[in-house]
Amino acid sequence: MARKFFVGGNFKMNGTIESIKAIVKNLNEAQLDPNVEVVIAPPALYLLLVREHLKKELEVAAQNVFDRPNGAFTGEISVSQLQDSGINWTILGHSERRTILGETDEVVASKTKFATEGGVSVIWCCGESLEEREAGQTVAVVEKQLAALKAKIGDWSKVIIAYEPIWAIGTGKVATVQQAQEVHEAIRGWLKTNVSDKVAEETRILYGGSVNGKNCKELAKEKDIDGFLVGGASLKPEFTDIINSNL
Ligand code: G3P
Repeated sequence: MARKFFVGGNFKMNGTIESIKAIVKNLNEAQLDPNVEVVIAPPALYLLLVREHLKKELEVAAQNVFDRPNGAFTGEISVSQLQDSGINWTILGHSERRTILGETDEVVASKTKFATEGGVSVIWCCGESLEEREAGQTVAVVEKQLAALKAKIGDWSKVIIAYEPIWAIGTGKVATVQQAQEVHEAIRGWLKTNVSDKVAEETRILYGGSVNGKNCKELAKEKDIDGFLVGGASLKPEFTDIINSNL
């Protein structure tokens, strides 16, 4: 089965009503490759605004979701509230949430379980720090993150994996095509050995970390790179060039 190319835009804590409406307008009017699945993730406050204005072929993602049903959890958003608002996706386990907000592998796995079982698809992020890469631990770190996920979930059909080396995020320092492909191949190999041939074959693995309109085409050619999770460049007009990487 061919894996459909996927491009996610993670706005992080950026944007205003005006700037986000302009991004949506740009996407609505652009000629986008119909063979690419596009999902954008604005800050929670703007999810409904985007869902209301974005053409319906494109999807909207939250940047986080809580792993409990509705109730007394101040500041959190539930899976059922996302669904109620027409938000069918969420990012989980972004390294900024892992490092700045202290989310552990287990917390991220629990949130992923809750979201997927509740019908919300997940862009699940993993990746190593610079020290870990320099110590030759890249694959071990990613495998540990994957093992924690596997311990919690059974159904992988609603999971997309985003490999985001922390040292490449927002730094302008993109992983080389070879560095990215190597880790993507290791992730697919891990899925094959530890989950199943089918999951390894069907799961999309995205690369994230300083992807832009210039470096996307080379990365997109690699056999295990099934798309991108884009930060800074998703706020700029070049985001449509990244979506159209394969044209
Ligand atoms: O989730 C996307 C991301 O962390 C990459 O950010 O700004 O390096 O594209 P950026």
